[in-house]
Amino acid sequence: MPEPAASPVSVPRPRQREGARPADREQNAARLLRASARHAYDPQTEIDWDSPIDPDQFALPPHRVSLYGTPLWHSLTPRQQAQLSVHQLASTTSAGIWFELVLMEGLVRHVYAGDLTTRHAQYALTEVADECRHSTMFARYITTTGYPSARPTRRADLLGRLHFLINDTTMTFAGAIFVEEFTDAMQREMIRDESLQPLARSVARIHVVEEARHIGYAKPELERRWASLSAPRRAVFRRALALLARQSVAEIVHPRVYALAGLDPRAARQAAARNPYWRDARVDWARKAVEFFAELGIIDRSVEGLWRRAGLLPPR
Ligand SMILES: [Fe+2]
Ligand SMILES: [Fe+2]
Repeated sequence: MPEPAASPVSVPRPRQREGARPADREQNAARLLRASARHAYDPQTEIDWDSPIDPDQFALPPHRVSLYGTPLWHSLTPRQQAQLSVHQLASTTSAGIWFELVLMEGLVRHVYAGDLTTRHAQYALTEVADECRHSTMFARYITTTGYPSARPTRRADLLGRLHFLINDTTMTFAGAIFVEEFTDAMQREMIRDESLQPLARSVARIHVVEEARHIGYAKPELERRWASLSAPRRAVFRRALALLARQSVAEIVHPRVYALAGLDPRAARQAAARNPYWRDARVDWARKAVEFFAELGIIDRSVEGLWRRAGLLPPR
């Protein structure tokens, strides 16, 4: 049984990096286009959607379910606990759709502002094509498990609409890095754990392979853009990203997950918020993105507290 770890915080000092030069940017995009041509999956045919789902099988490792180890968790039968894990994953998957739609819109605008004869712009559209397949795959996973909706919470919906209005491409890339690294860490755990639901692991496998390219596209782009931001814009950006990260993570467990388990959503949310296992899950899954942002200076002392309160850095 894993013990909640009280790992010390380390927000590394920002190090001076060089933004990608246009030639490097084209080379990187050409490499990603080649990789996309080699490994792109059609989830509609790659996944066996008709294989029966075992109601006693977990979709996430039990210690990664938000209520794991709490009195509410122990009040559930093993089958209810497994169902809670399936609904949590379906909710996280629905948050994934929310984010991918926002990302696709940002990428299309990025291409519109650019020139489609560049490999860089061509790769952006290739990524949109990947995300189209992912969102459809996620929706099919949600309906197959019987989870009732892929709608985001009202708050996330408004944040998405705000992003459409503001259209900040630098934020699009930073948000993508956060969400993609976070999801990648969670899904790699699922792929490693052979006891978990095969359907959930198949979805995770396809997503992990294709997302690695997206991260490789977004990171140098964010570095390049961040290097050119003025100090006042950086200060605003740091706060806006902390807000986006907090909302993205709050979105992964929709309150209806608890209602479906017959629990009081309010009491369950409070229990999850206090649960050290759940805090560790979020900190672990966010680690790679947090380290990258800290290296660039996008997470610094001025916003460290916001990330800590969002449960994405461990408490002091
Ligand atoms: Fe995706
Ligand atoms: Fe992606």
